Amino acid sequence: MIQIKNISKSYVKEKKTIDDLNLEIKNGEIFGFLGPNGAGKTTTIKMITGILDIDEGDILIDNISIKENPIKAKKEFGFVPDSPDLFLKLKGIEYLNFLADIYNVSKEDRKNRIEKYSKMFDMFDNLNDRIQSYSHGMRQKIIVIGAMLHNPKNWILDEPMTGLDPKSAHDLKVLMKEHSSKGNCVFFSTHVLEVAEKLCDRIGIINKGKLIFVGTYEEMKKKFKEDASLEDLFLEITE
Ligand SMILES: Nc1ncnc2c1ncn2[C@@H]1O[C@H](COP(=O)(O)OP(=O)(O)OP(=O)(O)O)[C@@H](O)[C@H]1O
Ligand SMILES: [Mg+2]
Repeated sequence: MIQIKNISKSYVKEKKTIDDLNLEIKNGEIFGFLGPNGAGKTTTIKMITGILDIDEGDILIDNISIKENPIKAKKEFGFVPDSPDLFLKLKGIEYLNFLADIYNVSKEDRKNRIEKYSKMFDMFDNLNDRIQSYSHGMRQKIIVIGAMLHNPKNWILDEPMTGLDPKSAHDLKVLMKEHSSKGNCVFFSTHVLEVAEKLCDRIGIINKGKLIFVGTYEEMKKKFKEDASLEDLFLEITE
């Protein structure tokens, strides 16, 4: 569970990039975070994951404050950042073992999980190559695999399907569904409205740092316009 409580953030004085945002992502749900470029999705995700300090408010991951108890809170989630260009000098397997070490994943669990996910994402034969030599999609996949190694309850994914081929994107969506159906929490940002519509239990729309809608697609249609596509609604309410 992720509870975002009245958070605000400014990068520059007197301009709130995130303005008093409140949001609760429940266990057992897939929550899609939508909004135009520059709306504040990544900034919010960076505060949830403790990468950016929160100016006002607090965020709890499974009731643990990322502000007060960052190390403990960080153990409770897996994170896929918006850019996969990380740890380029490491081989895929070195990166995964590094993460498994950080999170104290046992030898047996790490072996099983690395094998399961790298085979699923067609990365098994590339684990001994440097991440530098990976394509964009392959880098994305190694980061997704790494985020799952400690079997976290909460998944926080910033545009996770970007650059994935159709099969890998499909596999990731299946994993997200499985994960939430086991009572876990999946929070992800996307620009792909079709994915949001099909996959998400609820969606939130942020515009200029303010949350302008939270609920199901059905609720959104009721609130704004019956018979409208998600695309039409999105364009109208973020205008
Ligand atoms: N490090 C930074 N310093 C100053 N301003 C920043 C910084 N990072 C982001 N911003 C600004 O904060 C706002 C929100 O950016 P953010 O990256 O959160 O948007 P986003 O919703 O993730 O957009 P996108 O869909 O393009 O990924 C933008 O106006 C951006 O210019
Ligand atoms: Mg972003």
